[in-house]
Amino acid sequence: QPHASSKFDPFSMVSAEMRVLAKNIASLIGSGHPTLNRVTSYYFEAEGKNVRPLIVLLLSKALAKIPESERTRIAIDPYDVNEQDEFRGTPKAFSFAGQNPLDSISPLRVLHGINPNIILNPLSKPMMSREQYREKDLANGILPKQRRLAEIAEMIHTASLLHDDVIDFSDSRRGRDSGNIAFSNKMAILAGDFLLGRASVSLGRLRNSEVVELMSTAIANLVEGEFMQLKNTVMQPNLDQIENDGAVKQIPAPTGKVPVEVHEYSVKSPQQISHEENVEAAFQYYLHKTYLKTASLMSKSSRSAAILAGCNEEMIENCYQFGRNLGLCFQIVDDMLDYTTTAELLGKPAGADLQLGLATAPVLYAWKDKPELGPMIGRKFSKPEDVELAKKAVLEARGVEKTRQLAEQYCSEALKNLRTLPDSDARNALELLTNSVLTRSN
Ligand code: FPP
Ligand code: MG
Ligand code: MG
Repeated sequence: QPHASSKFDPFSMVSAEMRVLAKNIASLIGSGHPTLNRVTSYYFEAEGKNVRPLIVLLLSKALAKIPESERTRIAIDPYDVNEQDEFRGTPKAFSFAGQNPLDSISPLRVLHGINPNIILNPLSKPMMSREQYREKDLANGILPKQRRLAEIAEMIHTASLLHDDVIDFSDSRRGRDSGNIAFSNKMAILAGDFLLGRASVSLGRLRNSEVVELMSTAIANLVEGEFMQLKNTVMQPNLDQIENDGAVKQIPAPTGKVPVEVHEYSVKSPQQISHEENVEAAFQYYLHKTYLKTASLMSKSSRSAAILAGCNEEMIENCYQFGRNLGLCFQIVDDMLDYTTTAELLGKPAGADLQLGLATAPVLYAWKDKPELGPMIGRKFSKPEDVELAKKAVLEARGVEKTRQLAEQYCSEALKNLRTLPDSDARNALELLTNSVLTRSN
């Protein structure tokens, strides 16, 4: 951790919240099946980067500094998440000593099939009264619903990692066997689905339909991004050829609140396309895929945090853009690290992208200089010598350096977004977090 000693170290600033986050997630994912419990909790046991919850918690803290008078939306509604979840109808659960958790099963929990023994385990609850809990949350500026949002974002992310490691044939994550290896593909997939289900329950309980729409869209975006990566249409000139830049067409949602994003590509015959146009289209495709698979969850979580804070439209949009720029930077750096470091340092496979047939930014920059890479990209580096040739081309074309510059651009855009927030310790921590995304080594 490059900034561990700093006063504004992102993790230290919300370390208490992060401990509560871990406990709360544990209580949200309990099932009646012990093996399922082992698989769903597996990735939460090893230290992850927790970038998404850090963004949500720090952003929420920073947004609390905006005076009430500058918010046009109602900040706290009476139908609070805690009324709906831990606290509703179960005040006894807070007099822990000698309390039988089964005394306070709510009919709702039974209805949802949630094992009451696990969910109501008093040890997984913050040891505070409702009043103390509220006071503490209001004091640090983070609302209970925003905490829950952070938990939901991490659960969705973890679900996608379980699936991703199956898709990518990965054998390690977070320095140990990946879920597919430790348990099996089938169990990893099912555990991911289970986490998504539980994240959806929590999302529904936020009782904010705009946030439900946003976070559900993020889930759909993850899949769409992964699909774009699976079937790289722009690289297969004889099948589908992309003519425009995949411009986003916004279709208003029925509620008129959250626009549905439709990305339109049209077909053009290969002969009409110049090399430059082809590379440009491939970059647009790559960036759009990157938005969907990584930046969408970060940007929509950030947008949701601002909505829950009752911010005005301008600030909501600004937070969205912050998450978007940070997310793009994050994944571009991820794609760069795939070329520059070792599996040991990453805690997961390195050099995997070319092996998987994926043309990320470094190789696209190389292709720009060397049109002869085109066929190789088209056949997904499937000939025995392709991977080595592509690596050599990336080196010669300074593909990694150019990729770093691209990430720097998104990083500086994200910093600009942050500067529109009121000055605060939390904002400083977010700046550090943003810069450390660029300099991270794993
Ligand atoms: C990691 O990317 C993976 C993602 C950012 C998203 C994966 C999404 C899916 C598998 C779609 C299914 C979605 C849900 C919600 C269950 P990477 O493979 O480039 O990074 P890595 O090096 O960490 O594996
Ligand atoms: Mg992967
Ligand atoms: Mg992947």
